[in-house]
Amino acid sequence: MTTSTPRTFHVKSFGCQMNVYDGERMAELLTAEGMTAADERETADLVVLNTCHIREKATEKVYSDIGRIVKDARREGGSAPLIAVAGCVAQAEGEEIMTRAPSVRVVVGPQAYHRLPAMVAEAAAGGRSAETDMPAEAKFAALPKRRKVGASAFLTVQEGCDKFCTYCVVPYTRGAELSRPFADLVDEAEALVEGGAREITLLGQNVNAWSGEDARGRPVGLAGLAEALGQIEGLTRIRYTTSHPMDMDDALIEAHALNPKLMPFLHLPVQSGSDRVLKAMNRSHTAEGYLRILERVRAVRPDIALSGDFIVGFPGETEAEFAETLQMVEAARYAQAFSFKFSARPGTPAATMDDHIAPEVMDERLQRLLAALQRHSLAFNKTSVGKRCTVLVERMGRHAGQWLGKSPWLQSVHFTGDVALGDLVEVDLIEAGPNSLSGRLVARAAA
Ligand code: SAH
Ligand code: SF4
Ligand code: F3S
Repeated sequence: MTTSTPRTFHVKSFGCQMNVYDGERMAELLTAEGMTAADERETADLVVLNTCHIREKATEKVYSDIGRIVKDARREGGSAPLIAVAGCVAQAEGEEIMTRAPSVRVVVGPQAYHRLPAMVAEAAAGGRSAETDMPAEAKFAALPKRRKVGASAFLTVQEGCDKFCTYCVVPYTRGAELSRPFADLVDEAEALVEGGAREITLLGQNVNAWSGEDARGRPVGLAGLAEALGQIEGLTRIRYTTSHPMDMDDALIEAHALNPKLMPFLHLPVQSGSDRVLKAMNRSHTAEGYLRILERVRAVRPDIALSGDFIVGFPGETEAEFAETLQMVEAARYAQAFSFKFSARPGTPAATMDDHIAPEVMDERLQRLLAALQRHSLAFNKTSVGKRCTVLVERMGRHAGQWLGKSPWLQSVHFTGDVALGDLVEVDLIEAGPNSLSGRLVARAAA
């Protein structure tokens, strides 16, 4: 049993970008308590596993990670670190974790992690506790001000989901849709820019469902929020993810033409190209309806890079229905996309539907889908060759003098030259692969 207060911590985040954001906020909370971040999990007194429940594999990973942490500590003859489980598995299976993994001392859900320092202190004194309440907004008010951040930062503006797609756990792990207030978001964005951010990605499970009132009390949607954030000096790029087709309103589509800081990228998952499957998924749009939205976006922003998510092997999916998904890929022309095999999640309606698809059929469909998507990524990247664009420098490359950054279309671009992290530079795009482009540095951008 740990009896001393941890001095070092390590937060490991799985799952979506909102979990990455939460992980950063937890790290800031622990730092404000006087603890120091350890780069390696092995050297930390406190390990926070910030977990994801979306697919079975993601959930199982938590238990194998806990086992490994305990085993590693035993092998080295030291005492195991204090283990805290946060995130969506904590929310969904808090009690099960407490019984199945006695070495876990703290379980804290995504809406309650402002209590993490107090819970860690209790655990250090020999206690064990779980907290999975969902008090609206209490968390954000209790978090410290943002200080030092990278050139590209995340800002959660909306949490939760009311859509209840029949396969998905998010409405249960993250609760009902909730928009953070406009003024709080402007404040946090200003703090992020002061802390070094040049690009902010607005996050939400359904980020385009965000709504609020602007400084003058007028009702605004995400387009209005992006417009207000665009006024912040030093902020050059605004992105948002993940959007739901049903919340893609005219103002947001228009913003892609009107707001110069809004990047030409849209992640708009469709999941399937079959109307029968979409209905069974409770997606509330048809394949045709989705394509019409894309047409409207492309009318105002022809160069938009489109991204999506797909699920193959939803219960009952026939070969003909899967073929409709492949047709959707051809019609929509994705620049990039994520595809997943259906995973039956406990408590969701789809888990108990008839006609589950055999794993080998899912594998085979996934391979065909990936091949089609890869072809489209390469085609999209090839259309960029010959363009000159601004790249935000995000990482050092593998070779000396090599850098990696992002184009406006969220492509990874590598190039060599005398630049620094966080610079915005002009680059000529000269060669394309399916996952990245190579470029030639022209100049540092004025922005
Ligand atoms: N709110 C977002 C995405 C949330 S989860 C949206 O609606 O688009 C991210 C992706 O995980 C989903 O888009 C879906 O493609 C995938 N996903 C969610 N539940 C899944 C499940 N049970 N099995 C397989 N993939 C799933
Ligand atoms: Fe899940 Fe659907 Fe909500 Fe996305 S919209 S989080 S897939 S329930
Ligand atoms: Fe996973 Fe929770 Fe995000 S289930 S995808 S971490 S909202």
